Amino acid sequence: MSIPPYPNPHGKLLRKTAIVTGGSKGIGRAIVQKFISEGAQVLIFDIEKPSGLDLPEGSVAVFEGDVTKEEDWKAALEMCVREFGKCDILVNNAGVVHIAAPSTEVPKAEYDRIMKTNITPLYHSARTLLPHFRSQGAGAIINISSISAPRPRPNLVWYAGSKGAVSSITRGLAAEFAPYNVRVNAVLPVVAETGMVASVLGGEDSVEGRERLRGQIPLGRLGRPGDVANAVAWLAGEESSFVTGTEVRVDGGRSLL
Ligand SMILES: NC(=O)c1ccc[n+]([C@@H]2O[C@H](COP(=O)([O-])OP(=O)(O)OC[C@H]3O[C@@H](n4cnc5c(N)ncnc54)[C@H](O)[C@@H]3O)[C@@H](O)[C@H]2O)c1
Repeated sequence: MSIPPYPNPHGKLLRKTAIVTGGSKGIGRAIVQKFISEGAQVLIFDIEKPSGLDLPEGSVAVFEGDVTKEEDWKAALEMCVREFGKCDILVNNAGVVHIAAPSTEVPKAEYDRIMKTNITPLYHSARTLLPHFRSQGAGAIINISSISAPRPRPNLVWYAGSKGAVSSITRGLAAEFAPYNVRVNAVLPVVAETGMVASVLGGEDSVEGRERLRGQIPLGRLGRPGDVANAVAWLAGEESSFVTGTEVRVDGGRSLL
């Protein structure tokens, strides 16, 4: 994606500032690029530093931290305010999946890792960011759930369960914080071209495996990180100012079958 010079004067997120968790790779990285192309300034909050991100000066800051730790959330918000003056948007994108396997064979340590990484950050981020959004009278949160939340499948049950919690928490917080003009929405991707494909295929990426996945998606291809980023940018911007508590399915029609 080519990035116009910052700030993009016609961007839909001009003068907005955002924290994007898991912004170093995959879908999160595409969200960071999209936000910046729309004029936003972004703090990447990731356990790993991004590599090879060539973005306009002043448009991005990096906080190396762990979304499962409350103190890291406090430090991330402090850094965002220090660098950009405020925070308008939070994207809870960082997440992990277990290797697809029969549900009774997923080790307890994997189950714990999934629940801790996919659900607990919503709690920490709510306690850290919602008071900030409430005091400024506006805010937008976009949680990355999964199409497996409304439509769980064999062998990814614990992952789907964690994303079911993400979807429920999204609707609950939307109801609770609407009076403060804070919107909370979710995006539900189908399997997308990131490092997660191998896990979804049981641990090994393969041409045949991808063909099988493709065959299950009516629009005939896997998702792309940019597909998800486009939906997130819409939910973050003014065009969706009357939308809260909703889930946007970016799934190529997968949930129709
Ligand atoms: N790729 C898919 O097929 C797919 C489908 C549906 C939903 N999703 C969801 O989309 C989101 C992004 O997935 P992806 O495929 O881009 O994953 P990815 O593995 O490519 O990237 C995840 C990023 O999150 C970061 N991260 C992981 N744990 C962290 C932690 N504890 N603290 C801070 N950062 C952490 C990683 O360092 C990485 O940069 C996840 O929530 C995932 O569940 C992905």
